[in-house]
Amino acid sequence: MKYFILFGPPGAGKGTQATAMTEKYNLRHISTGELLRKEIAAGTELGLKAKALIDAGSLVPDEIVEGMIESEFRSARDIAGFLLDGFPRNTAQAEDLDAMLAKAGEEVTATVSLMIPDETIKERIRHRASIEGRADDANDETISNRIATYHEKTEPLIGYYRNSGKYNEIDGLGTIEEVRSKIFGLMDKF
Ligand code: AP5
Ligand code: MG
Repeated sequence: MKYFILFGPPGAGKGTQATAMTEKYNLRHISTGELLRKEIAAGTELGLKAKALIDAGSLVPDEIVEGMIESEFRSARDIAGFLLDGFPRNTAQAEDLDAMLAKAGEEVTATVSLMIPDETIKERIRHRASIEGRADDANDETISNRIATYHEKTEPLIGYYRNSGKYNEIDGLGTIEEVRSKIFGLMDKF
């Protein structure tokens, strides 16, 4: 099985690019953000717990997202691998993912990191807010906190994956098609 990590700050284009990537390489897309939003929409206890943290632009507890990831791993059939979008998001999650995969004799194949500057993050999220109506896109303070959380908690993973030789960065600026063809150029190697 292949395990690709689609990495990048909020609004970098992870969700946008994921569909074409999963189709071309027969991967299952796992977005922890989308899974959490489904729990919120269904009004589950887990969703209620997550909502306040998501609306504040903070991370939800590791055990919640890791439980979701494990259950997605277990239920997948007839695929070449997984595309993890929005997970891992801090060093503890990256270490737990490595341990989870090692138990099954597997490992992370590669990260595909989409990079855009903070100003572009804000522009893209404001644009999406008018289309998708995501609660965490509606408020400037939430957006700033998501960006701050990214720099503080998630960005250190760049070093983590560089150290294991699994970090691959792509410029996330340019049109959706331009970014997609750069991603395909990279993923064809794996
Ligand atoms: P999550 O849903 O993962 O949100 P995020 O990381 O903030 O990323 P986004 O979904 O906002 O951005 P994206 O990169 O998918 O961009 P998109 O393709 O939509 O997480 C939400 C929350 O859940 C977190 O804040 C946290 O609370 C919680 N959570 C999730 N995972 C967690 C974890 N592992 N641990 C703990 N908590 C977790 O693109 C954005 C916009 O830009 C779109 O409108 C798109 O059309 C446009 N666009 C895309 N590409 C381009 C381009 N090339 N040019 C112009 N526009 C473009
Ligand atoms: Mg997304």
